[in-house]
Amino acid sequence: MFWKKIKWHKAANSEAEIKLNSNGIGVVEIEGKKICVAKAKNEWHAFAYSCPHAGGIMAEGYLDEAGGNVSCPIHGYKFNLKNGRCKIPDGFTMKTYRVDSKEEGFLIGIEEGRFF
Ligand code: FES
Repeated sequence: MFWKKIKWHKAANSEAEIKLNSNGIGVVEIEGKKICVAKAKNEWHAFAYSCPHAGGIMAEGYLDEAGGNVSCPIHGYKFNLKNGRCKIPDGFTMKTYRVDSKEEGFLIGIEEGRFF
């Protein structure tokens, strides 16, 4: 059994400040690292800027809001927004991050390590 150490970073002052492109995906920057954000099924998600298959830019991908997935614009692999798992083909996992929207702002949690 292990615990993940999460450091929370303020990505915006509020949800309203997040700019989404025509595909419903936005990009925020945390300590110089680009992270994609999108809202599906009334819930915010944060995920990798680059596809784990061959580096496609996920911000240019396609949201399947009803299914809770995002598809890569290069080869179309579909990743679950909650856990990053790719259904077809199996074996690729897109990095996902925790999101929290509070009075102090729109926060993204970055894993800093694990401890036992
Ligand atoms: S680069 Fe994303 S599916 Fe191939």
